[in-house]
Amino acid sequence: MATMQDNAAWSGRFNEPVAELVKRYTASVDFDQRLALVDIQGSLAHAQMLAECAIISTQDLQDIRRGLAQIENEVISGDFDWQLDLEDVHLNIEKRLTTLVGDAGKRLHTGRSRNDQVATDIRLYLRHEIDNLVALLKNLQTALLDLAEPNTHTILPGFTHLQVAQPVSFAHHLMAYFEMLQRDTERFVDARRRVNRLPLGAAALTGTSYPIKRERVAELLGFEAVCQNSLDAVSDRDFAIEFTAAAALVMTHLSRLSEELILWMSPRFGFIDIADRFCTGSSIMPQKKNPDVPELVRGKTGRVNGHLVALLTLMKGQPLAYNKDNQEDKEPLFDTVDTLTQTLRIYADMMRGITVKPDAMRAAALQGYATATDLADYLVKKGLPFRDAHEAVALAVRHAEQKGCDLAELKLDELQQFSALITDDIYGVLTLEGSLAARNHTGGTAPQQVTAAIARARKLLAG
Ligand code: ARG
Repeated sequence: MATMQDNAAWSGRFNEPVAELVKRYTASVDFDQRLALVDIQGSLAHAQMLAECAIISTQDLQDIRRGLAQIENEVISGDFDWQLDLEDVHLNIEKRLTTLVGDAGKRLHTGRSRNDQVATDIRLYLRHEIDNLVALLKNLQTALLDLAEPNTHTILPGFTHLQVAQPVSFAHHLMAYFEMLQRDTERFVDARRRVNRLPLGAAALTGTSYPIKRERVAELLGFEAVCQNSLDAVSDRDFAIEFTAAAALVMTHLSRLSEELILWMSPRFGFIDIADRFCTGSSIMPQKKNPDVPELVRGKTGRVNGHLVALLTLMKGQPLAYNKDNQEDKEPLFDTVDTLTQTLRIYADMMRGITVKPDAMRAAALQGYATATDLADYLVKKGLPFRDAHEAVALAVRHAEQKGCDLAELKLDELQQFSALITDDIYGVLTLEGSLAARNHTGGTAPQQVTAAIARARKLLAG
């Protein structure tokens, strides 16, 4: 029999040590050591329950607590000696515990498997990260509100098909993103409920023969409930997929806003400026100031979308129960959390570094016949069927275009060629302010409505 210099916890039934290449291929400690503190937290709760149920002695519990406290310090200070030979975070910690406290350390794994342990760790980790992300979303929403508030009367062209459509309040435009981020927050809060259930007690796959109390562990760890089926508890990662889908949506929303910031900062638009500290120059073109941050947010959205597809694909072919495939859940999940956390942090700061250029916005809104719909609506209110009004205005726009002027610059008798219903009250309708003020209902762009929307939003965030 080959000598087992191997210190793997499961090496007893093997005739030869695992090949070096295989060890490196199967080890996860390089990335799952990030779970160390939640792994310790889970172990402490498990050990306490084992002692309360008289499955281990109170002396064992004391030893385990003492050992884990030291390990926690070593992890935090960076002194913990992570070993690839010990495969993953769980076995590294267990081995160290046994070195520190002897047999009590060997008893910690009673009634538990790495399968339910790792599922618990990820849930503890993700629950914490969701709470962070929700706070960061709120901070970004506040930055949006701060920019919107002084800009309810700032007018820019609203686009459809990226063609000038109708004038819109800049604050209203920003508030569209507030709404998106609010739904994103709701999704995280909702997903958290399903993250916050305890797998421990499922053991390897079918449960355990020890008289454990899963509800007690759930209570100690702050889980809302225990997972109801042991096979499901150790094998499904739907909660991670759901979280990543919600994260991909946040990134998608920020990617859309980024696209707009990039356009608005282009001299062709010139609607905003982004503070220099968020931009970079070109090594060859001295005049350049590039909006790198929004461009990277747009780029990183692809990366998070990729993680979502990776996790879905990871899951789709797996039979029950746990399979090693699931070890591949961590890197996409961690990177999703990191990318989104950094993105939200930088985005809130960047929004606070935006300078609005209302004159350029206004000049653009005055081009492209943005109030043509208002003229049509005016005719409808005077009794013309909408389709006829549409036709009359189309002809008026063509006429103005040929003259190279705006609708509001046409004389009254010129306008009357297109409809006898037009009288001199039309000029109030054709202004940008008139167009905005007319859309005075919930969800509309009238400054009065936008002010109310901002007030509602502030209240929502405070609540
Ligand atoms: N490192 C493993 C993972 O991340 C832990 C669970 C391993 N379980 C096992 N029976 N090999 O999924």
